Amino acid sequence: MALGKSAAVVIGSFDLGESDRVVTFYSREHGKVRGVAKASRRMRSRFGGALELFTLGELVFFDTGRTDLVRVDHFDVLDPFAAIRTDLERLGQGAWIVECVNRLTAERDPHAALFGLLTRALRALASAAGPPRVAICFGARCLDVLGHRPRLDRCVECGRAYPFARPALDEGGVVCEACAAHATGATSISPAAVAALGRLRAAGWEEALTQPLGRVEAELRNALESHMTRLIGQPTRTAKFLRSAAAIRDERGASMSGVNMDVIVSLCKRRGFIFQSSEIYGGTGSCWDYGPLGVELKNNIKRVWWRDFVQQRDDMVGLDASILMHAMVWKASGHVDHFTDPMVDCRECKHRFRADQVDEIDWTHHCPATKGNKFTIKAGESCKHCGERRTLCPNCGKGELTAPRQFNLMFKTFMGPVEEDAAVTYLRPETAQGIFVNFDNVLQSTRRKLPFGVAQIGKAFRNEITPGNFIFRTREFEQMEIEFFVNPHDRLEGRPADEVWHDRWIADCQAWFARYGLAAENVKLHEHARDELAHYSKRTVDLLYKFPMGWSELMGIANRTDFDLKQHAKFSGKSLTYFDEERKEHLVPFVIEPSAGVDRALLAFLLDAYQEEEVRGEKRVVLRFHPELAPIKIAVLPLLKKRPEIVAACHELHHRLTRRWLTLYDDTAAIGRLYRRQDEVGTPYCVTVDVKTVGDAEKGESGDGKVTIRERDTMQQIRVPMTELDAVFGRLLDAGAPWSEVAAGYPRAEG
Ligand code: GAP
Repeated sequence: MALGKSAAVVIGSFDLGESDRVVTFYSREHGKVRGVAKASRRMRSRFGGALELFTLGELVFFDTGRTDLVRVDHFDVLDPFAAIRTDLERLGQGAWIVECVNRLTAERDPHAALFGLLTRALRALASAAGPPRVAICFGARCLDVLGHRPRLDRCVECGRAYPFARPALDEGGVVCEACAAHATGATSISPAAVAALGRLRAAGWEEALTQPLGRVEAELRNALESHMTRLIGQPTRTAKFLRSAAAIRDERGASMSGVNMDVIVSLCKRRGFIFQSSEIYGGTGSCWDYGPLGVELKNNIKRVWWRDFVQQRDDMVGLDASILMHAMVWKASGHVDHFTDPMVDCRECKHRFRADQVDEIDWTHHCPATKGNKFTIKAGESCKHCGERRTLCPNCGKGELTAPRQFNLMFKTFMGPVEEDAAVTYLRPETAQGIFVNFDNVLQSTRRKLPFGVAQIGKAFRNEITPGNFIFRTREFEQMEIEFFVNPHDRLEGRPADEVWHDRWIADCQAWFARYGLAAENVKLHEHARDELAHYSKRTVDLLYKFPMGWSELMGIANRTDFDLKQHAKFSGKSLTYFDEERKEHLVPFVIEPSAGVDRALLAFLLDAYQEEEVRGEKRVVLRFHPELAPIKIAVLPLLKKRPEIVAACHELHHRLTRRWLTLYDDTAAIGRLYRRQDEVGTPYCVTVDVKTVGDAEKGESGDGKVTIRERDTMQQIRVPMTELDAVFGRLLDAGAPWSEVAAGYPRAEG
């Protein structure tokens, strides 16, 4: 029997029998060791609380050689890292760190560098360091020391040198967009996140823990989890726990998004993003029009979604179905019978409310205790004068409400000149059905093999009873939907393929919103409980965003099973099956449906980008849009509009640059004002032409041909030759190079 001794950390444990415990240690001298700690669960155990997860101690064990399990003799605590257990986030990230060590190492395979990294990470986690940051620094270094360092200098598939515009991360490192299309496991990653990962790896441990990462922190954390998943072969158990911990933390303490919706509505109108529909007639309140900047922003959102989810994946195709469809579509889909909300009407003012939401709105009260004075009382509260609760109409405070009635949300219309029952049809309430009824057309025309998806972006219409919260809930809106068809008999990673693909789509959608700027703390997942599920759904997960009115649905990702295809087959009499060549059988595919609202996504991007800050004693409003979403990419501004040479140079630049990137020329105010205006609409770069650029002919001075580029977020300015502008903006806007990297190559200009 051999005696072993080493410093070790507890990285896992489970109960054995009545009173024992099997504990997994990661030790400096022996690597991973599993041992039985006899009687360690007894009240008066000699181990006391020493075997808690994360504890660093001096381990003494006996190896009998008869089984893989050693016998734990002593574990003398060196540092319990107790602070890690004090809050859920620390605990979660700590659990992730020890799980990675546990799953990536073999037993009795010592690795001193990994042991050192593990104890350093736990020490940082027990101190004040931000838990996600510690996990990122640990994850990046853990891959390095175990020989899984992802390559960031070239595409690991084709060898093309990095940078490329839209990298993805696969097992060995970055892959270019062309190779990513064939790599099933690759996850998209922004160039900014690749650069940040490179910087973190190059920095020392302490420096890495404090380096500013900004918005890419969440993206990096997700990218490392995906990378671990690829190495381990399945997601870590702690990733799920971390998501729940974040949800609990948000629900407990965090206040709702700091931005007031009125501020956004006013900015949108003032700067031409969004106007109320038919405003000159008093507006509708349930429909909105996108102005010059709004339409650019909306088109950019749809363009990057289509590019990322359709054009750059080889398992996706697109479709554009008509809005008006055969009336039977809506019978088969269940919308005629089930797409209803219970509603109540006021008998007096005729206002209509959703029965289930009537107590969620502020109510008007004519108080009998104050001679009928009219008050507006907060939703759910009673009158502080008479103590009454709401029983009448919340709007007028006088009328009785009718009993609830089911109200179909579809807009009815007539196809053709005659308004008769046979001509009734509906404006589509979702784009999804256009995909289902074309399933066979797409299959036959493209000869696709399962799994594959069909995407569509288009208008949908719902006669919502209570539209509101600006563009959050409207009666006319746009959807970006995917129906991803999967063979239900296939198994992936030991699980039914539809369940695995559902998880993958949830992760991809979450990563997509993070990539284009939504802060991780403003987004969370909501798993539908059994009684919340739609009749067709096996499982539905919503992405919620922290809107000013509270956590609300941004998009849904549902497993709709084979419900829709079977319904349409039944109602149309046409077969909507797929022939599985391998099993020689016809089957009805299951479908995973990621469904997002364009308008809701736009609202979330606007809210997340909005920031107010003080600059030299003045308020600066800035929309920190991701450059790909920003409506205008570059503004060309003359420092002096009275100098014709300056204006001419600006026009020349404007025309040249706008061929590649939407560029605007503005000379209607002094330069400070012009910069503020561009900040307020989220333009990432301003180019200023000044006297030094063009020179002064009267004084016989020639210009240096250089202009100033100002970056929106840092407000830094650099001096760049006009001839190099295309190359500079190509790096910044097309290749996604970080500003710091590009700016480092040019002299700073005075602000
Ligand atoms: N095909 C599935 C489907 O339509 P949904 O949850 O009803 O599912 C999907 O809608 C997404 O469409 C929502 O997550 C939301 O982003 C958007 N959406 C739904 N109703 C909307 C409305 N009245 N106004 C704006 N967006 C809406």
